[in-house]
Amino acid sequence: MTIGIIGCGTMGAGIAQVAATYGNKVVVVDTNEMALIQASQRMTNTIEKLIAKGKMTEEAGNALLQQITWTHQQDALAESNMVIEAIVENVSIKQALFSSIETIVNDTCILASNTSSLSITSIASACKNPTRVIGIHFFNPAALMELVEIIPALQTSSETTVRAKSIIDSWNKKTVLAKDTPGFIVNRIARPFYSEAIRLYEEGIAGIETIDYALKTFGGFKMGPFELMDLIGHDVNYTVTETVWKSFYYDSKYIPSFTQKRLVEACWFGRKSGRGFYDYSENAISQEPNIDVTLCNDILLRVLVMLINEAAHALYLNVASKDDIELAMTKGVNYPKGLLQWANDIGIENVVNKLDELYNLYHEERYKCSPILRKIIQF
Ligand SMILES: NC(=O)c1ccc[n+]([C@@H]2O[C@H](COP(=O)([O-])OP(=O)(O)OC[C@H]3O[C@@H](n4cnc5c(N)ncnc54)[C@H](O)[C@@H]3O)[C@@H](O)[C@H]2O)c1
Repeated sequence: MTIGIIGCGTMGAGIAQVAATYGNKVVVVDTNEMALIQASQRMTNTIEKLIAKGKMTEEAGNALLQQITWTHQQDALAESNMVIEAIVENVSIKQALFSSIETIVNDTCILASNTSSLSITSIASACKNPTRVIGIHFFNPAALMELVEIIPALQTSSETTVRAKSIIDSWNKKTVLAKDTPGFIVNRIARPFYSEAIRLYEEGIAGIETIDYALKTFGGFKMGPFELMDLIGHDVNYTVTETVWKSFYYDSKYIPSFTQKRLVEACWFGRKSGRGFYDYSENAISQEPNIDVTLCNDILLRVLVMLINEAAHALYLNVASKDDIELAMTKGVNYPKGLLQWANDIGIENVVNKLDELYNLYHEERYKCSPILRKIIQF
């Protein structure tokens, strides 16, 4: 099979590596010649490291590299069975690209977008044949993250969905099906992990070290929200929050925070810039968390019920199936447990009571309990 990839940045190069690993011929197209040279060099370095660590044989590594062609010529995509676009996150640029590649590839070629936040339906609308357009959303780093969200547009044929899913399944990924709604599954449900943590910090309920400690030690999350935002980069994380909020017609429950906006304005992007919520400079003094059990349990419960509420509401609105919501959060962002299972474990009544307590205190939309939580005893 031949897989076309457009855009050789972080995501495009990662997806190219995955496709080549599973024996596909891969054609990577980018308009930027320098980006192509750098991406191809980075890929060679990655493979050399894997060989050196004994994770790949030299033969397999060389074969993988030979499967990939790097070019600035779109025509090279002509033989593709599926093209995955991973260019700049801009709907009109993506639409122009899709209508142009449609004239190059054959009639049966699937046209997929790796967009994180744009409507697949609006991208598909630029094509003469929108039935073969679909969202295929990988997570960063694409070579390592198991989850892939498959998002049919309103116009996508069921045949396209079945074919796209079976190709991605054959790359040893876990696929979940999401409705074409803002943030799909993961980027929607994960919002409170960041926003409620920031809210706790803004209110002075606890410092960042304590909130991170509470979620890791008492919740089993691999990283605390502030460490994770610093790792993702506030420029990226803030933009996702802002995009989701705008896409939901400015629903106040997704509203971004000034605290994070100021970090972006100061160019305190996190690890990559040496400073974010934490200071990564050599002489930085780290603060000890407050390990008070009651405080930590309160912090965990508040963030957790907000996450559960978001997962439950996504299920209520048929964004995805129960199993796919659980899989998405455990494989896409490595949560220690599915959120709906977590609700069962702590008791749905307790989740409802905590949300009602928060709503009674604040009277803000974000704390409104999803109707599904009042209707059922167990997921
Ligand atoms: N970075 C992430 O964590 C992440 C995760 C999931 C999805 N995404 C999505 O994947 C897409 C790409 O993101 P990225 O982080 O890899 O971007 P990037 O900036 O690292 O790379 C984009 C590449 O696209 C190229 N490009 C731009 N316009 C082009 C065009 N018209 N034709 C061909 N090439 C073009 C650029 O030269 C660049 O090399 C975006 O839609 C983004 O939302 C990103």
